[in-house]
Amino acid sequence: MKNALSWTLIVCVSIFLLNNCKTTLHKDISQDQSFISKIRKLYSSGDPSLWPKPELNELAVPHFSEIGHLPKVKFPENNPYSKEKVLLGKTLFYDPRLSGSNQIACASCHDPELGWTDNKTQSFGHDRQLGTRNAMTIMNIAFAKSLFWDGRAESIEQQSQMPIQDHKEMNEHIDIATDKIAKIKGYESLFERAFGTKTVTKEKIAMAIATFERTLMSPQTKFDKFIDGQSDAFTDDEVAGMHLFRTKGQCMNCHNSGYFSNNQFENDGTGLLGSRQEDLGRYKVTGDPSDAGKFRVPTLREITRTGPWMHNGAFGTLRDVLTFYNGGNPEPPKKRATVHNGVQLVSKKSAMLKPLHLTEKEISQIEAFLATLSTRTQRLVPPGLPK
Ligand code: HEC
Ligand code: HEC
Repeated sequence: MKNALSWTLIVCVSIFLLNNCKTTLHKDISQDQSFISKIRKLYSSGDPSLWPKPELNELAVPHFSEIGHLPKVKFPENNPYSKEKVLLGKTLFYDPRLSGSNQIACASCHDPELGWTDNKTQSFGHDRQLGTRNAMTIMNIAFAKSLFWDGRAESIEQQSQMPIQDHKEMNEHIDIATDKIAKIKGYESLFERAFGTKTVTKEKIAMAIATFERTLMSPQTKFDKFIDGQSDAFTDDEVAGMHLFRTKGQCMNCHNSGYFSNNQFENDGTGLLGSRQEDLGRYKVTGDPSDAGKFRVPTLREITRTGPWMHNGAFGTLRDVLTFYNGGNPEPPKKRATVHNGVQLVSKKSAMLKPLHLTEKEISQIEAFLATLSTRTQRLVPPGLPK
């Protein structure tokens, strides 16, 4: 009798627990669903003032602006847009005769079919020498306030001469490169149409390449359509990912504005000071020890096409990048300090980076959101090279 009673009790308790479990499980999913429907409505309302507030660190506030569409490109007054200049710039971008070996063009490392990068960990150039950094995309470059991972170039015009002269890249003196272009008959009319005279100068080469680069804008992404009011453009995971990106994931502290970068220099815990892979980043430009290991916050537009990721191409998948952030960007203890030309340098990771405690599902959702910022490869017909 006693036995039967305890059995009944056990069965009753089990049924109760099972039932309860089922209802809480359902409740969670339904709560998720109603939450996601709610934020889907707000984010796709076409009015960002209705969006939930982002979770921002106070350090991020001075450089913050909301994510959204890319604005229209502003061409500088001293180098205005013209169709003719773009054609000349595009032709030069594809012309390997700007290089010492006559074999390497800008397009060798910034290939439109590879998201305007080379999809290599680190680029190789002249004599197949390996560089130390990952080639960045030049899409939407008009919105970068400085160029290169360390910001050492201040304008696109200035930047464009640097790879030509870099011994590991195109390895040509800029004056010799200019002379070579000037001797090619077929360029005369291109220069004349772009600048009014046939004379070839290094300044004109720079201005034409820069004008072409400023036209390399992403077409509308899934993200742009979604926030414009196409509320079914996003899956539930993408909606949740956008929300996590702006809140728990803390990405908005640095990757903000329509360009998804605040154009600041931050220490992401990737400088690896004192190791063979050491990169002092911004310090080499400013000489300020607090800049050791800082890099320019890169754009996240077109991000699925531009891997491997980070200044050194250290991460082969976006999941790896996200796992790194989720752990609060851990730096190996032995790779945090170095002595450079007698100066003691210590890497100080940004105080905005902390363990995020994202679940695997949440990581996947942010990953799904990041993919909405990319567009499909556009086939681009390379220009014929003048003879
Ligand atoms: C050998 C490969 C290679 C060649 C050739 C090359 N680049 Fe690059 N490019 C890179 C790498 C690597 C970086 C990043 C370097 C760094 O930050 O130190 C870069 C960076 C850039 C950037 C900066 C992007 C940003 O977001 O700051 C621009 C713009 C650019 N290149 C344009 C050009 C142009 C124009 C040419 C031709 C005149 C050219 N590149 C030739 C590899 C190359
Ligand atoms: C403290 C500022 C900061 C925060 C917060 C931050 N990032 Fe970054 N992010 C950077 C910097 C700086 C780099 C470049 C680091 C390098 O090259 O070594 C970078 C690089 C990246 C890259 C690689 C880009 C490329 O072109 O190689 C991705 C992807 C990325 N971040 C995504 C995220 C996501 C997702 C979050 C939120 C989970 C996030 N970031 C939070 C500053 C930040």
